[in-house]
Amino acid sequence: MNSTLETLSIKPDLQEVLKLSGDITIYSDPEALAKYGHDETEDFVFLPDAVIIPHTVEALSKVMQYANEHNIYVTVRGGGSGLAGGALPVMAGLLISMEKFNQILLIDEKNLQVTVEPGVITEVLQNKVKEFGLFYPPDPSSRGICFIGGNVATNAGGPKAVKYGVVKDYVLNLEVVLPNGEIIWTGANTLKNSTGYNLTQLMVGSEGTLGIITKIVLKLLPAPPFNLLLLVPFNSAENACAAVSAIFRAGVIPSALEFMEREAIDWAVAYLKDVQLEIGPDVQAHLLIEVDGNHMDQLFSDCEKITEVVEGFGCGEILFADNDAQKTELWRLRRNVAHAVKLNSIYKEEDTVVPRAELPTLLRAVKEIGAKYGFRSVCYGHAGDGNLHVNIVKQELSEEMWNNVIRDGITEIFQVVKSLNGTLSGEHGIGYVQKNYMPIMFNQVELNLMKGIKAVFDPKGILNPGKIFPD
Ligand code: LAC
Ligand code: ZN
Repeated sequence: MNSTLETLSIKPDLQEVLKLSGDITIYSDPEALAKYGHDETEDFVFLPDAVIIPHTVEALSKVMQYANEHNIYVTVRGGGSGLAGGALPVMAGLLISMEKFNQILLIDEKNLQVTVEPGVITEVLQNKVKEFGLFYPPDPSSRGICFIGGNVATNAGGPKAVKYGVVKDYVLNLEVVLPNGEIIWTGANTLKNSTGYNLTQLMVGSEGTLGIITKIVLKLLPAPPFNLLLLVPFNSAENACAAVSAIFRAGVIPSALEFMEREAIDWAVAYLKDVQLEIGPDVQAHLLIEVDGNHMDQLFSDCEKITEVVEGFGCGEILFADNDAQKTELWRLRRNVAHAVKLNSIYKEEDTVVPRAELPTLLRAVKEIGAKYGFRSVCYGHAGDGNLHVNIVKQELSEEMWNNVIRDGITEIFQVVKSLNGTLSGEHGIGYVQKNYMPIMFNQVELNLMKGIKAVFDPKGILNPGKIFPD
């Protein structure tokens, strides 16, 4: 497939694109190209030939028709918070920004659904439905800047996934512009659907390689009125990980169960500056545990059970966040870890995920592999989902180490993940940076099935080239 892709490097004729519709903004100045040429992935920048901002579905459809006819690459971008390079225009061409698709079209209170355009910021959507007593749970750390369309494209998760599921569990129906400009709906606005192949779920997590999402129908829940939050320190990071599966076995499903290694929380504290948190000298890791629901009594009882379990794993003194300000502070800390790591050092982010009881084994392996190859890692993530973000930091490593040797270490980490029945990415996607590790997870037969699906949607391979499939 890539050989086909590499033969298409036709430059768009911007005068022709301008003539397609009045509902398009085009940028081709160097600042715009640079601004839209990167996301949050490492320090990558790839300049597109032009940035196109369609204002309507029809205008977008015309752009795609033009690009398809003229063999021009197209990469779609949401909020630009991606960590796997899914929105990087790695083969130039047109970069389509969905920022004008920023309307919440319908809140259906009777059916607990919302229809939304893909350029709505996730937190804006969450706050809006909350005004109606409703709840859209998936809450990636970037929720203040990411677009809901990007969340669908990557099948994003976040802390609440452990109890409430990930984006795929909320997407009911999608309007999509196909690479040839045709406009389709993938399903129906129903909670159940056994009608033919599930095109909706095929689009979810397809990272902008199959079509461009232009409307999203999401399921909502009633908002749970109460929650409690605990911060639990451990002198052993492995013990912290081991406590995770025991909490579920004790009969509690927390609404968040996050793991942070010592350095993750230290760097976040240093970055935020205004957060006060006493951390004992021997503490190696924390679990941040939230429970939510309709009855406070139940939540207190859940917290008692959790306390019993974590004490069994030798935790230190538990901090109960007893007011909203303290809860907000702790969540600010957790949500800023990724940013704090980024500011501290160039880093590579792996989004490993294993069955949750395998988490201690995974963590131990990551550290052993790091010691073997000479790299440090800062680990944190959604422990309740077995989803460990492994941030390999460059710091003093030589360019040779960073650019060549680390790859072997990451390969070993992924081999361990596979042997534990886990997978490469839990919520960030494969995009550009993980694609060459795909053969660790999938054999040629499996990869060919995926390539066949891609070819049905996008026979010319114009949409988001250079992603997901190995070189
Ligand atoms: C987080 C992002 C990086 O968990 O997924 O903070
Ligand atoms: Zn995460």
